[in-house]
Amino acid sequence: MISVKDRTFLLDTENTSYLFRIDKYNHPEHIHYGNRVRIEDAEALAYKHFISYGTTVLYDEKDETYCLDHLPMEYGTYGRGDFKTPSIECEIDGSYTLDFLYDSYEIIEGDMKIDGLPSSYGCEKTLVLHLKEAVKPLRLDLFYAVYPKEDVITRRAVLYNDGEEVILHKMMSCCLDLTEKELVSGSLHGAWDKETHLEEREIVPGTLVLSSRTGFSSAKNNPAFFIRRKDTDEDHGKVWGFNLVWTGEHHSSISLDEYGICRVETGINHERFSYPLKKGTSFLTPEAVLSYSDKGLNNLSSHFHHFIREHITRSDWKKKERPVLINSWEGFGFDFNKDGLLKLASSAKKLGMELFVLDDGWFGRRNSDLRGLGDYDPNTRKIPGGIKSLSKEIHDMGMLFGIWVEPEAINTDSALYEAHPEYALVEEGRKPVLGRHELLMDLTRQDVRDYIVENVSKLIDDNHVDYIKWDMNRHHCGISGAYDYEYIGGLYDVLERIFTPRPHVLFESCASGGNRFDLGMLCYSPQIWSSDDTDPIERLDIQKGLSCFYPQSAMGAHVSASPHSQTLRKTPLETRFAVAALGCLGYELDLGRLTPLEKSEIAHQVAYYKENRALFQYGDFYRFPKEEDYECFEVTDGKKAAAVKVRRSVHAAPIFDKLLIKGLDPEKIYSITSRDHNHTIDSFGHLLQHALPVKVNTDGSLIKAVGRIKGLSAAKQEYTASGSALENGILLDNLFLGTGYNEHLRIPLDYGSDMYLIKEK
Ligand code: GLA
Repeated sequence: MISVKDRTFLLDTENTSYLFRIDKYNHPEHIHYGNRVRIEDAEALAYKHFISYGTTVLYDEKDETYCLDHLPMEYGTYGRGDFKTPSIECEIDGSYTLDFLYDSYEIIEGDMKIDGLPSSYGCEKTLVLHLKEAVKPLRLDLFYAVYPKEDVITRRAVLYNDGEEVILHKMMSCCLDLTEKELVSGSLHGAWDKETHLEEREIVPGTLVLSSRTGFSSAKNNPAFFIRRKDTDEDHGKVWGFNLVWTGEHHSSISLDEYGICRVETGINHERFSYPLKKGTSFLTPEAVLSYSDKGLNNLSSHFHHFIREHITRSDWKKKERPVLINSWEGFGFDFNKDGLLKLASSAKKLGMELFVLDDGWFGRRNSDLRGLGDYDPNTRKIPGGIKSLSKEIHDMGMLFGIWVEPEAINTDSALYEAHPEYALVEEGRKPVLGRHELLMDLTRQDVRDYIVENVSKLIDDNHVDYIKWDMNRHHCGISGAYDYEYIGGLYDVLERIFTPRPHVLFESCASGGNRFDLGMLCYSPQIWSSDDTDPIERLDIQKGLSCFYPQSAMGAHVSASPHSQTLRKTPLETRFAVAALGCLGYELDLGRLTPLEKSEIAHQVAYYKENRALFQYGDFYRFPKEEDYECFEVTDGKKAAAVKVRRSVHAAPIFDKLLIKGLDPEKIYSITSRDHNHTIDSFGHLLQHALPVKVNTDGSLIKAVGRIKGLSAAKQEYTASGSALENGILLDNLFLGTGYNEHLRIPLDYGSDMYLIKEK
């Protein structure tokens, strides 16, 4: 709901209020973003300035107490007394001074359609604040879209130039001046293979910048971050969250000034940004997404999860359960043939998987990552009959068919480069900078965009493709600023033209894993490959970080081989499954190398996941505070729940373990059942000696052969408890200590895990 009274604006969602007013000099003054308040509270909540400070720069000589530096603003500018970071910088005849003053407002029912960049959809109302520069022919519109149910407000800005050309150097999507003390920031940092690790730090005077210079949103700093009170935890306390619908270079800054105002800004990266804004044209920022909760981080995450599922995700797959897939990459790499692919598909089908994905290596000269990108002709030596016949055979097996592409990149060793070297993006006069042996295609060119749209559309339409994995495997280099803005606009144009007319295609985007995990990509691809790192222990941090801002339905998560190909860590198959089940489940390994025991375990995993898939993919997600060496997560739809406890390392003689479950009815009674699975015999080493009736060599070939088909069943745990007992936490059965064994003892194991299903009795 949007209310307006005496030049004061109140934007209400179910549990939050955003309040600002137009002050006596016509500046939009920020007052409050937090829990629900009344419009009449504006005066009491506003930052007080009845005093003149030394070194103050007065906006009006006659008014000694009015200084823009001491005023929380809706959009900061430089040159009239505000020394905090400006939200906009525009050079006009050598001057950077700007002073945007209130002109009028409009309230629009629903979305404000602005062409050019992807954005959220389905808001209740949009407020548009029209501002005019005090003396220059510039107009600025600030947009506020309200999403009441999700407790989200989105913001963006448009600058119109009615005069001669000006140079735009910076334009943020939003500025928020918070008047709260004792703050801590939380942001997602990483790199290839170790994306989205949550980093928290105290906010101290000065500026913290979270940005990307790689051409894309990047794994270095994800565009999402939060600011919380020091005493806030997963389930209590105040927290503000921010994200950006943008795939290019981004810049967010958190600056605490000397009088306690914490200015938060987010938008496109303005380093080296120099955008000529011609007479009669406008510039649009990406959309910033803001949310607030006074119930801790889990609640803030749930706002973002609901918002993404309802108002960002598109296509027929928006609310549809995502198929369990088998991907050829980690099992085969570039080295495959049609028979091998069909064998993989047929084993996957037998184990219950639903979608076969042919990854890299199927086209042109692509037998390694040195060559082939840019071409789309299938390699008929590897796949006689081409993609069409392979796709048909896969469909005939009763599976969906998916395929990998990397359309934004080109290898110099490719037919396309030989015909069109001008399609590649290189800096004139310099040797090209390669990344994974590739150059990027120049998406600012119409002919390049048309080439990609034509070829990918044809690939989909001619070959009955149900799923596309769209990869992008390098950083931009040397080309940033305004060029990046154009390039990303080109990318969105291509995605729009391919996928909007084909809503039946499940599009999973990927950038060497999670190097482009952002809301811009999620406007087109319902899911994103979270990381090339599939080691479940590494994934705990990666998926936990992502879960702060992104729902499970957006995360591709696969079970791969052990020892893991990057960490060489050996992990139980059950743990690999338990962690991958907290996202869109897939398998990425050579199924032909599995033992019969592993195959039967996987068949059970897939069946279990499919039975509870809506819960895993779309349930409300809870993180629990890390306990000793455990990580614990829960998904629930309010009626039933699944929980996963993963152990990083075992300690001798451990104390009790609890299982906490939230979000169920405190009055109702639930059964809690652990997931049936088997431990491999070799986990027990020579201890087997004590369990077996006959003496055998526990390292010998007999035990190895038996171990291929038989495991030791994990203890069946069954409990009954009310929702309120579960919220308190129930005590789990004891862990094995080495002092004897009975069927109630849980087996600890480094990297071991327990998965539980909680259902109403
Ligand atoms: C990237 C992706 C992988 C795989 C390879 C293929 O690294 O992240 O999943 O598709 O490319 O070359």
